[in-house]
Amino acid sequence: MAVITCIADLKELHRKRTPKMFFDYCESGSYTEQTFRENISDFAQVRLRQKVAVDMSGRSTESAMIDQKVAMPVALAPVGMTGMQRADGEIKAARAAAKFGVPFTLSTMSICSIEDVAAQSPAPFWFQLYVMRDEDFVDAIIERAKTAGCSALVLTLDLQILGQRHKDLKNGLSAPPKLTLPNIVNMATKVQWGLEMLGTPRRFFGNIVGHAKGVNDPSSLMTWTAEQFDPKLDWSKIARIRDQWGGKLILKGILDAEDARMAADFGADAIVVSNHGGRQLDGALSTIRMLPSILAAVGDRTEVFLDSGIRSGQDVLKALALGATGTMIGRAFIYGLGAMGEAGVTAALEIIRKELDTSMALCGERDVKALRRENLLVPEGFFDSYA
Ligand SMILES: Cc1cc2nc3c(=O)[nH]c(=O)nc-3n(C[C@H](O)[C@H](O)[C@H](O)COP(=O)(O)O)c2cc1C
Repeated sequence: MAVITCIADLKELHRKRTPKMFFDYCESGSYTEQTFRENISDFAQVRLRQKVAVDMSGRSTESAMIDQKVAMPVALAPVGMTGMQRADGEIKAARAAAKFGVPFTLSTMSICSIEDVAAQSPAPFWFQLYVMRDEDFVDAIIERAKTAGCSALVLTLDLQILGQRHKDLKNGLSAPPKLTLPNIVNMATKVQWGLEMLGTPRRFFGNIVGHAKGVNDPSSLMTWTAEQFDPKLDWSKIARIRDQWGGKLILKGILDAEDARMAADFGADAIVVSNHGGRQLDGALSTIRMLPSILAAVGDRTEVFLDSGIRSGQDVLKALALGATGTMIGRAFIYGLGAMGEAGVTAALEIIRKELDTSMALCGERDVKALRRENLLVPEGFFDSYA
């Protein structure tokens, strides 16, 4: 592909260059994938209001997320197994984000460890926590994130149990991949991926191996992770983690106004309106549809970020104009990483910034912080057609 113009181009390269099991892992929603699809199609229903004869010089996409200056209000979302999409993927994405001036979030289920990323990234990053049954592990990983200088804890609330993604079961997803005949045949066609992967020692869940009790090799690891997500996670546990962490806290996976109110009561610095990119509760509504009711519930008591379905700067503009103070992208940056490594993540960020800037200008706005509801045209009943 000669010229890359949009996120869809990066996705096509990602598909070509990455083993099928990891591309499918990225490109899946749970069950029927209705929510996964509607996250995107609902963004398309919200339209932009064109304004002309406005001075468009001196534009800015700069803003802040939890008091951190950002080149644009778009953070990289936590994505498990990023280091399987491309060797050392978390380090590459963290570097691209730091150089661009946006936050990177490291997943608990990353391949590169917290310590590895801290050593290789030029800027502090956010750490995402999955609450596990093993409380010693949770306590220790919070301390590790503090020691590594992580500037926020992103506590994910919508994965106490795993939504089923059919393709992962059919593909026998694992890290590293099992050397079955179909996997070997498929990987043999992904030469660059394979060479880079052979050149790195980072091929296991780096935050877990050697840190969790009884997990010292890959076979015990898969069993451990499958059994470890804590089904008992509730607000009292969230309070305990908040107190132990003591720093900036972002609660991720909120899709309901009442839950958002609770999160604000618990002192969250920000919430992420998210349905995990359609990977958990299939049948849930899209985040863009749920956003206004959540904003109305929390007012300005906490910052409100949105993810799930963002594939362009126009999507970012729509979320901000509705009142979100920031956004996160998952697949959009993973496509870039799978396509071209660190340069691909940078390309994804550049594409989104340019689209945001151009669309903002054509809406007659110069400052991303000034975007508001009047910049949008929304079909009647869009936000309240479900009750
Ligand atoms: C392949 C993949 C792995 C993910 N792993 C995690 C994870 O480890 N922790 C987490 O909180 N969210 C995880 N998510 C959800 C993302 O953080 C984010 O909410 C979602 O990707 C946003 O939707 P989008 O991909 O449409 O941008 C994952 C998403 C994808 C696509």
